[in-house]
Amino acid sequence: MTTICVIGSVSMDLVVTTDIRPVVGETVLGNSFQTVPGGKGANQAVAASRLGADVFILGITGNDSYGESILKNLENNGVHTDYMEKADNTKSGTAHIILSEGDNSIIVVKGANDHVTPDYVLGATEILKKADIVLIQQEIPEETVQYTIDHCEKLKIPVLLNPAPARQVAEEIIEKATYLTPNEYEASVLLNGRTEEEALKAYPNKLLITKGKNGVRYHNGIEEKQFPSFPVKAVDSTGAGDTFNAALAIALAEKMKMEDALLFANRAASLSVLKFGAQGGMPTRAEVDSALRQ
Ligand code: RIB
Repeated sequence: MTTICVIGSVSMDLVVTTDIRPVVGETVLGNSFQTVPGGKGANQAVAASRLGADVFILGITGNDSYGESILKNLENNGVHTDYMEKADNTKSGTAHIILSEGDNSIIVVKGANDHVTPDYVLGATEILKKADIVLIQQEIPEETVQYTIDHCEKLKIPVLLNPAPARQVAEEIIEKATYLTPNEYEASVLLNGRTEEEALKAYPNKLLITKGKNGVRYHNGIEEKQFPSFPVKAVDSTGAGDTFNAALAIALAEKMKMEDALLFANRAASLSVLKFGAQGGMPTRAEVDSALRQ
C-alpha cells in the first residue's frame, strides 16, 4: 500500500450557493449556505485515503468547534491524525466560498494553518520517513514549504508541491521539488517571466501545468504533450485540483508512467466535481478504475 504524508491546511468551508455572482457594490440573494470540511491539505488527504493510500496528515486546527469537526472528518475518512495539533487561542482556518453554476470564488482565512511551522514539520520526521511521497500546498507559511522541500530532499523523499494559492517561490524550491502542479495562473506567478514552453522544457516530467477543462500540459523529455481532461457537467468544482494532486501522487508513488498517472489523476478529478462540497464527490479507487474501463 502506498504511504502518503500530506502537510497542509485543514479548514472549514463556508459555502454560499447563488445564481448570480455579485460584482463590486452589488448585493444579491443566495440560495443556500452550508458548512463542509475543506482546506487543501485536508482535501488532498481525504482524496488520497479514498483512493486507497495509507495517509498521514500534518496540520493544525484552532481550539474551536470547527477544529473538532475537521479532526473528526479526517478520522472518519481513515486519515491518521496522530501528529495533528490544536493551536491555543486561535481560530481554525476557514474558506469563504461563493458557488455559482458549478464554479467557485474563494477567500481563505488561514487562522491556525499559520501555525504549521518548520519546527512542527521537523518534529514529524519519523512520519516523513515512512512516506513514499509527501504532498504539500501553499495555504501554510512559505518558510514551512521551503523547509519541508529542503528537509525531504535531504531525506530523499519525493515531494509533490501543489503551488496553490499562487505566490512566488524561491528558485531553489522549484529545483528541489520532485513535482510541481500549478494551474495556469499559478504557473504565471511561479515561473517569474519564463514562458510555459521554456519552463516545461526545463522541467520535463516534473512541471505539470493544469488547465481545467483543457487538461494538463507537460514535457515528456522528448516533446510537449497536452492531456485532455474528461468532459463532465460540474456540480461543484471545489476540490477537483486537490483530487487531481492526491491521485497523481498515488500514481507516481506506484511508479505508473507519467501518461498513465495523468490519465488516472484526470479521471479522479472529473468524478470529484459531480457532487457538492470539496470532499463530497471525491471518488474511491474502485470508482476511478471502473470509470477508466468505460
Ligand atoms: O482546493 C479547494 C479548497 O481551497 C477549499 O476546500 C477551500 O478550503 C480552499 O482552501
